[in-house]
Amino acid sequence: MIPKANRKLSFVVAIATAVTSLINMGAGQQIFAISAELATPAEFESISDKSERAIAIFNEMGKVLQHPRCINCHPRTDRPNQGDNMRPHIPPVARGPDGLGKPAMRCTTCHGEKNFSFGGDRGSLPGHDVWHLAPASMAWEDRSLGEICEQLKDPARNGGRTLAELQEHNAEDGLVGWGWSPGEGREAVPGSQELFGALTAAWIENGAHCPDS
Ligand code: HEC
Ligand code: HEC
Repeated sequence: MIPKANRKLSFVVAIATAVTSLINMGAGQQIFAISAELATPAEFESISDKSERAIAIFNEMGKVLQHPRCINCHPRTDRPNQGDNMRPHIPPVARGPDGLGKPAMRCTTCHGEKNFSFGGDRGSLPGHDVWHLAPASMAWEDRSLGEICEQLKDPARNGGRTLAELQEHNAEDGLVGWGWSPGEGREAVPGSQELFGALTAAWIENGAHCPDS
């Protein structure tokens, strides 16, 4: 007899494999071109005006913030997105009261504590402890970088964070960090989490100004 834990895993893998085949059938959509490079804070020191420097740094941070790895979990609707073309999540799942899904379709039914590789070139199922959707007030999809910047600074929409706490989140949070280790078949966000944290700190030191759009 197969132990219970393994039975559950086989079930999840079967669902996940079926879902992946569905997704592959929808191939051929536009894939975003993404740069793997992220500049360091030092590269912005030649900009003498502090406000201009802060804006240039935030534009650089936008390469991370607007990357599909982040946007997919900060969607415009109650449903997460998938893949580099940020298509709606298959199967349809909804945020639910706590970001962990509705009772019948919890994120943790499929998403474990770690990425799970399907083997071969079949990709992987993303995982991290605890995998859940960002609250609606933190939606970034379809927003301009300037709009994302303003809402990141707004405690009413950013989870009540000060700028220092926002910097700490970018530099330390595990779900943010997942963006650099997203599992097989998925492109990582550019740079490193350490560098992203350093850019956030430099942006704040220079006044945390936002781009106009
Ligand atoms: C029935 C299983 C199942 C459930 C339930 C589920 N997911 Fe997924 N999810 C998947 C699979 C499979 C993938 C991988 C698809 C792929 O990339 O090919 C995935 C991918 C994702 C991705 C894409 C990551 C990326 O950048 O490409 C996000 C984000 C995500 N899920 C969030 C959630 C959230 C949040 C919940 C709960 C509200 C949830 N999922 C519930 C199966 C599930
Ligand atoms: C699996 C889903 C998931 C992924 C992937 C994800 N986030 Fe989040 N994010 C969340 C959740 C959930 C919260 C709310 C947590 C809280 O407030 O404590 C959040 C909150 C945040 C916040 C807090 C402030 C605000 O206004 O949004 C920032 C900043 C953030 N995420 C950055 C990122 C970045 C950058 C990436 C990509 C590198 C990313 N996230 C990827 C789920 C995700």
